[in-house]
Amino acid sequence: MSTHPHVPENRAVLQVGPLKPSLTETLSTLYGAVTLPEDPATRAEFLDSHGAEVVAVVTSGRTGVAEPLMSALPNLGAIVHFGVGYDTTDVDAAAARGVGVSNTPDVLTDCVADTAVGLLIDVMRHFSAADRFVRAGQWPTTSMYPLTHRVSGRRVGIIGLGRIGSAIAKRLSAFGCTISYHNRSEKPDSPYAYVESPVELARDVDVLIVAAAGGQRLVDRDVLAALGPAGYLINIARGSVVDEAALVDALVNGRLAGAGLDVFADEPNVPSTLFALDNVVLLPHVGSGTVETRAAMEQLTLTNLDEFLASGRLVTPVVDPAVKV
Ligand code: 8YV
Repeated sequence: MSTHPHVPENRAVLQVGPLKPSLTETLSTLYGAVTLPEDPATRAEFLDSHGAEVVAVVTSGRTGVAEPLMSALPNLGAIVHFGVGYDTTDVDAAAARGVGVSNTPDVLTDCVADTAVGLLIDVMRHFSAADRFVRAGQWPTTSMYPLTHRVSGRRVGIIGLGRIGSAIAKRLSAFGCTISYHNRSEKPDSPYAYVESPVELARDVDVLIVAAAGGQRLVDRDVLAALGPAGYLINIARGSVVDEAALVDALVNGRLAGAGLDVFADEPNVPSTLFALDNVVLLPHVGSGTVETRAAMEQLTLTNLDEFLASGRLVTPVVDPAVKV
């Protein structure tokens, strides 16, 4: 039971999936929130007894809220996401029910864009691989580390020129790179060249960076073939945007020069065939993972929750709530 001034009597906030420990702690102590049980039988029992009490869910893109869970929460008014991505939540179902949806845009843009640039430099210059070479004691016994490839001045294609894609473009412009992009629609005020399709974009660039929202397969076998054996792929968006089997196949068979990946199709499982490849950099989805940015995301998550509980509105809505608490 909550003692929070804006959580109405006999109503509750529900946490769905794991969140930053300090956020879980705040939700539980200040909002009286409970976490949805993982085990299916316990979950069904919990939803039967308490589903109707829930007015707000706090979750992240890792878990989200699918339609069946929404159905079990008849008084749900808002789904508040920690993170910018919300592809695991059925947004159409939420909108149809008048359930608001929020995310945490802007506050993580810089860190995710930094990660994309870091991955690009690491993959093309082999920094992680060269670090392994030094640690393995190979430097004294090998005349020199093999030459790598220049980053500055390259042609870079960005799929998804939203907040993060634009921040990546700005950074790489400072590296003298030529930027072009593919997006759902052309950005009229953009200084960068718009390309009609991912395949055409891939054909024209040395590096393809995926910064589009999840849930849409934009990089398939044809796009990878168009990028070709001298091309590099960077993905800081979602694993679902890329055909991972085709990507692994291209990398293993030398049909792509390299890849820098912060996201995967089935996290935390990474195709183990990639582990042996020095032209691949693998990160455990750490794009926004700095103390400063995660604190800002946590704050914005709580600001959305507070605003919803107090006024029925969200501060950074993806879908505006229609249902009042
Ligand atoms: C988070 C992310 O790590 O914001 C996103 O969409 O992918 C990351 O910033 C994730 O949402 C937290 O689970």
